[in-house]
Amino acid sequence: MHPQTTDHRPPGTVSAAPALSGRGLVKRYGNQHALAGVDIDIQPGEAVAIVGPSGSGKTSLLHVLAGILRADSGEILLAGTRIDQFSETKRSELRRTEFGFVFQSGMLVAELTAEENAALPLLLGGRSRGAALPAAREWLSRLGLSGKEQRRPGELSGGEAQRVAIARALAHRPKVIFADEPTGALDTRTGRDTMNALLDAAAETGAAVVIVTHDRELAESVPRTVAIRDGLIDTSAGVAR
Ligand SMILES: Nc1ncnc2c1ncn2[C@@H]1O[C@H](COP(=O)(O)OP(=O)(O)OP(=O)(O)O)[C@@H](O)[C@H]1O
Ligand SMILES: [Mg+2]
Repeated sequence: MHPQTTDHRPPGTVSAAPALSGRGLVKRYGNQHALAGVDIDIQPGEAVAIVGPSGSGKTSLLHVLAGILRADSGEILLAGTRIDQFSETKRSELRRTEFGFVFQSGMLVAELTAEENAALPLLLGGRSRGAALPAAREWLSRLGLSGKEQRRPGELSGGEAQRVAIARALAHRPKVIFADEPTGALDTRTGRDTMNALLDAAAETGAAVVIVTHDRELAESVPRTVAIRDGLIDTSAGVAR
């Protein structure tokens, strides 16, 4: 008998805790409350879209959850373990090992090839080039980029560059992927394709995904939507849960 036959969590996950939780998160800039007390649970493998108007606190929430910004108060738990009190060194290690990031426009290293860009988190994590590059190439191929492994970012279209960024976010098999307006610089159709590529790839690895977007239409392709307004979860929109 296997005790976890109906468990949809990725292998190796032993705790029943959410992949990531924020509790009472407050972030202020001077008198401005970017986050005014946010509670959020993200389950292992779950995809969540954070939507809301410009300035509502979406990026602040993402950065606080990912440990890029320190909250003024509140707790953050990764698989049940408090991480908000970790030192900067420890948080930066967490970001490299447990988290993956996709930003609005790639942030690829211009001098590196597509496969080297995708392999970066593995190389930074101490893998040899001989191990890291084939793993990166495999992700590029799954994302439809076979034959473009040796191109530099300047030789790729916007959508292709975002798929390299997705490969880079996934290659080290993080527990949570954070994406801030990952399709913001793309046309509607490429944006939709890129969003689907991100969701499919994350589902393959069992990673949870937190996607910030102000595009309601794109958010509809994500199973769960959390609306944020003035730094608070907005339940009046009828989409938050
Ligand atoms: N570094 C900063 N210094 C001062 N105020 C900031 C800073 N970063 C964000 N803010 C303020 O905090 C609030 C929330 O900003 P945030 O970037 O989280 O919004 P957002 O929802 O991501 O907006 P957008 O859709 O425009 O990206 C805004 O009022 C913004 O002006
Ligand atoms: Mg933002």
